[in-house]
Amino acid sequence: MSTINYSDKIPNNVNLSEDRTLQRALEHWQPNYLQWWQDMGPDGSQNFDVYLRTAVSVDPQGWAQFGHVKMPDYRWGIFLNAAEQDRKIHFGDNIGEAAWQDVPGEHRANLRRIIVTQGDTEPASVEQQRHLGLTAPSQYDLRNLFQVNVEEGRHLWAMVYLLHKYFGRDGREEAEALLERNSGNADNPRILEAFNEKTPDWLSFFMFTYFTDRDGKFQLCALAESAFDPLARTTKFMLTEEAHHMFVGESGVGRVIQRTVDAMNQLKTDDTAKLRAAGVIDLPTIQRYINFHFSVTIDLFGADQSSNAATFYSSGLKGRYEEGKRVDDHILKGNTYKVLEVVNGQLIEKEVPMLNALNEVLRDDYITDSKGGVDRWNRIIEKAGIPFKLTVPHKAFHRNIGSLAGIKVSPDGKVINDHEWNQHVEQWLPSDEDRAYVGSLMGRVTENGKFANWIAPPVMGINRQPVDFEYVRFN
Ligand SMILES: [Fe+2]
Ligand SMILES: [Fe+2]
Repeated sequence: MSTINYSDKIPNNVNLSEDRTLQRALEHWQPNYLQWWQDMGPDGSQNFDVYLRTAVSVDPQGWAQFGHVKMPDYRWGIFLNAAEQDRKIHFGDNIGEAAWQDVPGEHRANLRRIIVTQGDTEPASVEQQRHLGLTAPSQYDLRNLFQVNVEEGRHLWAMVYLLHKYFGRDGREEAEALLERNSGNADNPRILEAFNEKTPDWLSFFMFTYFTDRDGKFQLCALAESAFDPLARTTKFMLTEEAHHMFVGESGVGRVIQRTVDAMNQLKTDDTAKLRAAGVIDLPTIQRYINFHFSVTIDLFGADQSSNAATFYSSGLKGRYEEGKRVDDHILKGNTYKVLEVVNGQLIEKEVPMLNALNEVLRDDYITDSKGGVDRWNRIIEKAGIPFKLTVPHKAFHRNIGSLAGIKVSPDGKVINDHEWNQHVEQWLPSDEDRAYVGSLMGRVTENGKFANWIAPPVMGINRQPVDFEYVRFN
């Protein structure tokens, strides 16, 4: 089970060759996927040899192998964690019953929607990041970008496998549509708003992989609890790959900060104009990028009150983050949870049935988790002896979904009027000028072991290779 069959056209650990119909259907989808990769994947990079990890097993010890490959030759495949014997449903109305190995008819539409929504984010982020290779600050970073990209492609495969295997003709049509929607396309956009935003520069990329890939982590963790066992097993393995994406984000932002505080100490200044003249990214600009990416990402969890969220939970489709570690009844009827609302110009907390507030529960778990990295970034600033603290904004800041949508709230959580908002927005969110400045720093650095001026080198290389290793051969 843990070993992956690489002799099949599609690498897999699901005995694909024993199901000829499914194998044929996926082999039919494969060239369309590769065509999508050529058209919408990393720009101008098809011929590079990239030092990538490829999954060779789902055994937590030694699951990956590293080597130089051309990205179109990456072996995208279907990998599920091993089945747990006699796994039981552990939350919702069917708690204690056997987990489902097939899709129950009454949950078919909802499960398909969950899988399609998750699946849609995977190729979307590859599309958002497709031009970044042209301005990578080093070979090391270029390699990390491409690693994230090929694995998001693999996550699409993970969802497409479920659609093909369990959802018949509808599933096949959805799998095609996943290659037809495109990030930011006016006529046929990606499903979720944050996945139609641009990722125009590397600071945005690091923020995206820190904040938005972390949304992915929380969604996948909730799906890893699912009563639909193939979905649970698929998402568990996706999480193994996902950890590196968040590492790329956290260490990337950390290195930008390191370079900035070094320059601040060298020049003995916190003056933005002087720091920009020195070609580094001032801390207030980094704070504005955090504000933007954090607020756009927490919208992804959906409306604070949602009857769909209640249905998904009670029917066993989607659990809470770390459902198994919680000590309540895992049914949640009669439990309550606090959500925010604006009454008479003030944010107030309101108790609502917890089942309806499960999006908010997941969002709050996400917020707690994402603060951890911000604390670690602050330690870099502290260590440099600079009195500046990065924070995540209040969760009501710059929201676009649920009861807080469109309400003007400052980063520290005060409800304000339009005039006050307009006066301060350039201090709170990246301005056109900020974006133009960050954009002006971008330019490809290709030499082994060299780094762009605005970012510090990493402490360690990938897979214990040196920092100046040849991570990408440009050919
Ligand atoms: Fe992913
Ligand atoms: Fe990811």
